[in-house]
Amino acid sequence: MGLSLHQVGVAPGRALMEEHVLSLLCDPETRFGLELAGNNLRNTATGRIFPIQDGIPLFVSSVSGSNLKYQTLYDRIASGYDLSERFLKWVRGMPDYRQEFLKELEIKPGARVLEVAVGTGANLPLLLSDIDFFGIDLSWGMLKKFQRNLQQWNRHAHLFHGEAERLPFKVEVFDCVFHAGGINRFNDKVRAIKEMIWVARPGTKIVIVDELEDTWGKDSQQTPVLKTNVEQGSENVRCPIHLVPEEMKDVRAREICDGKMYCLTFRKP
Ligand SMILES: C[S@@+](CC[C@H](N)C(=O)[O-])C[C@H]1O[C@@H](n2cnc3c(N)ncnc32)[C@H](O)[C@@H]1O
Repeated sequence: MGLSLHQVGVAPGRALMEEHVLSLLCDPETRFGLELAGNNLRNTATGRIFPIQDGIPLFVSSVSGSNLKYQTLYDRIASGYDLSERFLKWVRGMPDYRQEFLKELEIKPGARVLEVAVGTGANLPLLLSDIDFFGIDLSWGMLKKFQRNLQQWNRHAHLFHGEAERLPFKVEVFDCVFHAGGINRFNDKVRAIKEMIWVARPGTKIVIVDELEDTWGKDSQQTPVLKTNVEQGSENVRCPIHLVPEEMKDVRAREICDGKMYCLTFRKP
C-alpha cells in the first residue's frame, strides 16, 4: 500500500500507527484532530493526551453505570470468551447467526469498516480479507484477546479502547459501520446510534444486532427469563428501532437466529 508509518509503541518495530489511521482520529469529546506525541496521541487544540498501549490508543477515561458493569464482566471473561461462546451456543441450540447479519453488510474490496464493541473480533474472519478493519471496545481484556486472535488468523485490524457513546473518529470516514451484541446494555443507546451515524459516509447502511432474549437473569444460562419480539419488550431486550433518527432511510428490523436476536438496519441519507 506504500503507507508511511510512525512508530508510536513500546517495542521497536511492533506497535505502529499508520498515517492514514491517524488522519481519521479525533478527540471524542471536542472532535479536534490528534497528532502523535511520543507514545501518545495529543489533541492538537487542547493538548489533552491519549496514551497508546500495546499499539492500542486509549480513549476511555471514566466509565460508569451499565458500561462499567459490563466492562468489568467482559474483562473478567475475556480469555475464555471464544470457547464459552461456542459452548453456550451449543447448549442453547443456537444456529450460527453471524452469517445471517453479516450478509446485510455492504462491503466492497478495500472498504474501511468499523465494528463498534468488537469484542474478540469473531466477525472479522468471516469478512473479506481485502478491507481496512477498525474495532473499538470498552473491555481491555477483550481487545487483548482480539490481538492474540489476529496473530492466529493472520489478519490485520486497527483497535481502539473506547466507548460506543464516544467514538474517536472524524465525521463520515467509514464505508461500513456495524455493531453486534452489546447495545441492549449500553449506558446511552441514543448516543451510540448517533455516533455510528456520525462516522458513516452518506449512503452507508448501518447494521445493529443484539438479543431478544434475556438470559442474564436469575434463572439460568439456558432458559430465557424474558422473551420479546422486535417491536416491544423491556429496555434490556428491545430492538432500538424507536431510537433511529427520523431522517434515516430504509429503516428495518427483523428476527434472526430462530427469533433469539434482532437485526436492525438503516441507511444514512
Ligand atoms: C457479546 S460481546 C460481542 C462482541 C462482538 N461484537 C461479537 O459479535 O462477537 C459484547 C461486547 O461489547 C462490549 N461493550 C459493552 N458495552 C460497551 C460500550 N458502551 N462501548 C463499547 N463496547 C462495549 C463488551 O466489552 C464486549 O466486548
